[in-house]
Amino acid sequence: MREKLGFLVGILFLLCGLSFGRFVVEKNSLKVTSPEKIKGVYECAIGNFGVPQYGGTLIGTVVYPKANQKACKGFDEVDLSFKSRPGGLPTFLLVDRGDCYFTLKAWNAQKGGAAAILVADDKTEPLITMDTPEEENADAEYLQNITIPSALISKSLGDSIKKSLSGGEMVNMNLDWTEALPHPDERVEYEFWTNSNDECGPKCESQIDFVKNFKGAAQILEQRGYTQFTPHYITWYCPEAFILSKQCKSQCINHGRYCAPDPEQDFSRGYDGKDVVVQNLRQACFFKVANESRKPWLWWDYVTDFAIRCPMKEKKYTKECAEQVIKSLGVDLKKVDECVGDPEADVDNQVLKTEQDAQIGKGSRGDVTILPTLVINNRQYRGKLDKGAVLKAICAGFQETTEPAICLSEG
Ligand SMILES: *[C@@H]1O[C@H](CO)[C@@H](O)[C@H](O)[C@H]1NC(C)=O
Ligand SMILES: *[C@@H]1O[C@H](CO)[C@@H](O)[C@H](O)[C@H]1NC(C)=O
Repeated sequence: MREKLGFLVGILFLLCGLSFGRFVVEKNSLKVTSPEKIKGVYECAIGNFGVPQYGGTLIGTVVYPKANQKACKGFDEVDLSFKSRPGGLPTFLLVDRGDCYFTLKAWNAQKGGAAAILVADDKTEPLITMDTPEEENADAEYLQNITIPSALISKSLGDSIKKSLSGGEMVNMNLDWTEALPHPDERVEYEFWTNSNDECGPKCESQIDFVKNFKGAAQILEQRGYTQFTPHYITWYCPEAFILSKQCKSQCINHGRYCAPDPEQDFSRGYDGKDVVVQNLRQACFFKVANESRKPWLWWDYVTDFAIRCPMKEKKYTKECAEQVIKSLGVDLKKVDECVGDPEADVDNQVLKTEQDAQIGKGSRGDVTILPTLVINNRQYRGKLDKGAVLKAICAGFQETTEPAICLSEG
């Protein structure tokens, strides 16, 4: 029975998944400065982990290891170090795609002393965004410790670099993130696409940790008018033919219009997808009401307090618990309730309808398909979800001399 349910969930995701797809690969430029024959500007795709140096440039010299060329093992084991000596250029470690996660390659490169990792694609194809693994992983701890930036490069550029290196030439390059976030001005607009689900393993944990750690900076930036922040929530709709199915009934509200996957991927226990949609909606409504009373930053308090006081594990992921948190923050509960509306009704919900429209990309942004996603100045942020890394990216969105003090002190 479990397998059958899993299969149906799979179908639902597949159908839903088809309505998305314009995922934008955020790129930045990589400039080879020597040797002469391969000098030029190339595209590379920024990995979704590590710390890209938004607003900056990193200069280095490329090393392609003699052994362990896919970097799936630690470099200490093969007796090599890429730490640059005093006065030497930082090492950009070139490795081949395949055999293990991108994140493991980056971690091994970092431990080996590399300043950045370049992963050469193994076939000729458009560049993709290298992401963190989805599944729970015993070694997941190292993910948060990756600080070096990473970039995927095309097979042909990888081949040219290897050829130059094997011919005894030194390959130097700049990795340039100055163009990665456009339109610097005196205010940065950013969005955080998130989820109130707290039972999805490392991805959910890193989301809530980020909100807790970033809250202080986010509130200062917002209160002083340096940023305009908007939280967002992804929902799916149930395909017409399945509206009356058990799956859609447990995962959706408003008659199949807004759905979220079951938190534990098991319909027989715990909370259902529809519980997640309702809590997400309440968070979105909380923001709307707080924003109308000119205190949008209270969202950060609500989300962190809710995560602490109303976790699924303690069976407190409920309306009553949420309402206590809303009251404690002095926000108009009646207005929030009105905005949430009746989840059983066969009608549109204005807030969720607007959220679904916003999922579809406009201009340079692309569709939002991974959670969590941070969008800064209408471009999807790539890199790890960590206070320092995100602050660096937001700070790169200010025009020079207009950046707030927090960018100069903590950035
Ligand atoms: C990651 O960093 C933390 C804090 O610096 C440290 O305690 C932990 O041991 C590191 N984990 C790994 C796998 O290196
Ligand atoms: C929040 O309030 C500001 C100022 O009143 C407004 O410009 C902005 O559109 C509001 N944001 C949302 C998502 O309603």
